Amino acid sequence: MTAGKSDLKVVVVGLGTMGRGIAQVFAEADADVAVVETMDANMDLLQQELQASGLRTHVVRASLAEALIDADLVIEAIDENMESKQALLTQISAHGTPSLVVASNTSSLSIAELGRAYGHPSQVVGLHFFNPPVRMPLVEVVRGPQTSAKTLDAVTTWIQQAGKHAVQCTDSTNFIVNRICRPFYYEAQLLLTQGAEPGAIDLVARRCLGHRVGPLETLDHSGLHTHLRSSETAERELGDRYRPIPVVRRLVRAGFTGKQAGRGFYDYAVEQPRAARERLLQHAVGSRRPLAVVGPASTRYAGTGYAPVDPDIADLIVYVCGARSTDDDVRAVRSLSASPIDLVVDSADGRWLHDLPAGVGWVHAHVDDSSVFVEVVDDALAAVPITTGTHALLEAVGADWIRVPALPGLIAERLQHILVNEAVTLVEEGVAAESDVDLALKLGMNHSRGAFEYLADTGASAVVASLVSMQEGFGDTRYRPVARLLRLGASDSRPAQSALSPTSIR
Ligand SMILES: NC(=O)c1ccc[n+]([C@@H]2O[C@H](COP(=O)([O-])OP(=O)(O)OC[C@H]3O[C@@H](n4cnc5c(N)ncnc54)[C@H](O)[C@@H]3O)[C@@H](O)[C@H]2O)c1
Repeated sequence: MTAGKSDLKVVVVGLGTMGRGIAQVFAEADADVAVVETMDANMDLLQQELQASGLRTHVVRASLAEALIDADLVIEAIDENMESKQALLTQISAHGTPSLVVASNTSSLSIAELGRAYGHPSQVVGLHFFNPPVRMPLVEVVRGPQTSAKTLDAVTTWIQQAGKHAVQCTDSTNFIVNRICRPFYYEAQLLLTQGAEPGAIDLVARRCLGHRVGPLETLDHSGLHTHLRSSETAERELGDRYRPIPVVRRLVRAGFTGKQAGRGFYDYAVEQPRAARERLLQHAVGSRRPLAVVGPASTRYAGTGYAPVDPDIADLIVYVCGARSTDDDVRAVRSLSASPIDLVVDSADGRWLHDLPAGVGWVHAHVDDSSVFVEVVDDALAAVPITTGTHALLEAVGADWIRVPALPGLIAERLQHILVNEAVTLVEEGVAAESDVDLALKLGMNHSRGAFEYLADTGASAVVASLVSMQEGFGDTRYRPVARLLRLGASDSRPAQSALSPTSIR
């Protein structure tokens, strides 16, 4: 097995969407590329794509037997069907050299089973490229139970030489990115059925979570039928928590499978996602109105540019709660709301659904260096309207804002914390390391921050508190914090070591 850049000889079998892209990736990296494809039309397409990118050499079409003569690596990208792939691997094993590394671009099949079909499982590995391979920088390297360290080292080197980033995971359903994002996609769909508009969900994901594209727009782009199929596999392999959300099945049955069909979560004949977001986004003109900010997390407003005043002389107070609102918070809010001052509670905690006094506004502000974005609760069903105090607050900080339903976690925390919980689950199960999980989310999903980076900034105990609030509010075990997160949360809130040091004990 040789790992030199120009020495590498790669065979790509199957020139569909993925195989053509993978062949181009290696051709651009100066490897010797041979391709095997049954359909002439796909070979022609590859030639056109190579020409368009300025590459004419390095790719030859051959029979499987010819192509494998002195190949280092074969990557199969044929249809996602176990029997077809097993039959192909049996043929490869008849022609390949003893040191040939065999990779599958499968998105859901077992590398262990493919390894058995090949006969030398130590040389079989998953290489999960993302679509389109030429543009997406991430490759998930999937380690079967018998894949050798030598095989892993070789493919990791080749992937890096081809200009891609490799992350490693075990042979497990949906690997890293698709596994972590599944509960996040489900949450976006549940929010939709609970009264949030698709544009609101996608806007919050962009503005509060730093995602380049929102979850519903992403699903519409990749096709709801594909998402439903892989969700059914996840449910079968991983259990009831991964059951698809009924709305997606209804849409698929109606033929509303996403952007290509003209309708999915969005109806493209009526409104494009961007227009939907623009319609829902509101801008308050900053008036630098005097404002008192009180409560355990009042520092959230640091740097928002309002003119702070003492609560005694304020005519507008914002009470900012921690991750989990306590009985003391409720008492404080009740006593403040008894006076003629306008009062707004800033929290995503679900208890305000029941404990918010009449006339008090409910918001959750997200403050970053350049802007303030506020989720504003406006829910006739829950009898939580937007108050004059809320408007005054939005103007005082010059916020961009959006209406959201009165539900635990509102939109941002709900999407983010379900994703973080799943990321921790993956590490707990030994599927991948924290650093690979974060890299996979950033490169595979364009997230601006990894789940573990978020966890480090926010604190595990705050994430646990928020998930517990959702679990209580919805009565659904999908929000149950995973054991590893509970342990991280406990260590978060335990007193610092120095408080218990011998010198402090008299
Ligand atoms: N499409 C995606 O977004 C995506 C992303 C990641 C992984 N994958 C995985 O990549 C693989 C390929 O997916 P795709 O979307 O490119 O499929 P595709 O249906 O577009 O292409 C499959 C190609 O394989 C060819 N083929 C089938 N059997 C063959 C054989 N025995 N010898 C030579 N050629 C053969 C077909 O003619 C076809 O051109 C699947 O395992 C899929 O799960 C797909």
